[in-house]
Amino acid sequence: MNEAHQILLQEMGYTLWQLRQPQVTGDMPEQECRETVVLESPVVPVAVAQPVPEVPAPVAPAVVPAGAAEPAAMPPGTDARAARIARMDWDELARAVQECRACELCKQRQQAVLGVGDRQADWLFVGEGPGAEEDARGEPFVGQAGKLLDAMLAAIGLRRGENVYIANAVKCRPEGNRTPHADEMAACRPFLMRQVELLQPRIMVLLGKAAVHSVLGEDKSLASMRQKLFRAGEVPVLVTYHPAYLLRNLPEKAKAWEDLCLARRQMQGRPGN
Ligand code: URA
Repeated sequence: MNEAHQILLQEMGYTLWQLRQPQVTGDMPEQECRETVVLESPVVPVAVAQPVPEVPAPVAPAVVPAGAAEPAAMPPGTDARAARIARMDWDELARAVQECRACELCKQRQQAVLGVGDRQADWLFVGEGPGAEEDARGEPFVGQAGKLLDAMLAAIGLRRGENVYIANAVKCRPEGNRTPHADEMAACRPFLMRQVELLQPRIMVLLGKAAVHSVLGEDKSLASMRQKLFRAGEVPVLVTYHPAYLLRNLPEKAKAWEDLCLARRQMQGRPGN
C-alpha cells in the first residue's frame, strides 16, 4: 500500500496500524516484519471482504421507457413530457434542464445543474441536488461534500470526469439545502432517467436517500439497502451514504468504504469476493 492510498484510507475513516514483530535473536538474521493492518470495526478490508448475500432482485422501477406510465400523482401532460425527454440527445437535454419550469425549484436557482463528467463513463454517481456552491458554479459536488466525494472516488482509483459521471436527483437547488420533495424529484426524474439511458453506465452508485427514492422508488433506510445489488433497467445499482451525511457522521465512512469496495468488485465481476 503506498502512502497516497494510506492517506485516502485514513480520510475514509480507517485507522492504520503498523505491526512490528519482535526482533528475533540467535542464529537467525535480525529481521523486521512490517505488516499494514486496516482496523476499525466493522471494517472489512477489501482482500477479506464478506461475500455479498445473493439479493433477491429488488424492485427498481426501471429506467422509464418513452411513453411509460408515470405515478398517478403526476400532473396532466407528464407522460408526454417524459416521452419528449426520453428522446432527447445530450444537447437537447442540457437545454431542457436549463429552461425547465416543471417545479417550484426553478424559482430560486441561479442555474440548473445537469451533471458533470465523461459521457461514456462506466460509473454513474447520483446525489441529491445542488447546494449553494453548485448552484453558483453549475457543477455537482463542488463544495465540502464534493471534496469528500472526490476522495472517495480516488480511494477506489477513480477521478471525477474520467470514466465517471456525477449527477443529482434534482437539477435545481432546494432552498436552504433542504431535501427535495417527492414531487420535485418526480418532476426531475425523466431528466435523470434520460441521463442514464444516454450514458448506459456499467454501474450506478446512489448517494443517499433522495437518490434512492428517485431511482429505486424506495424509502427504506440506507442501512437496510446498502451492500445489496439492485437494478434500474439493465444497470446494476448500489446504495451508499451521502458524503454530506458522512461529514456529519464520521464513523459511517467505514461503511461507505465497504460499499465502494463492493461497487469496485461488482465492476470487476467478482461481487462476492
Ligand atoms: N450534494 C448533492 O447531493 N449534490 C451536489 O451536487 C452537492 C451536494
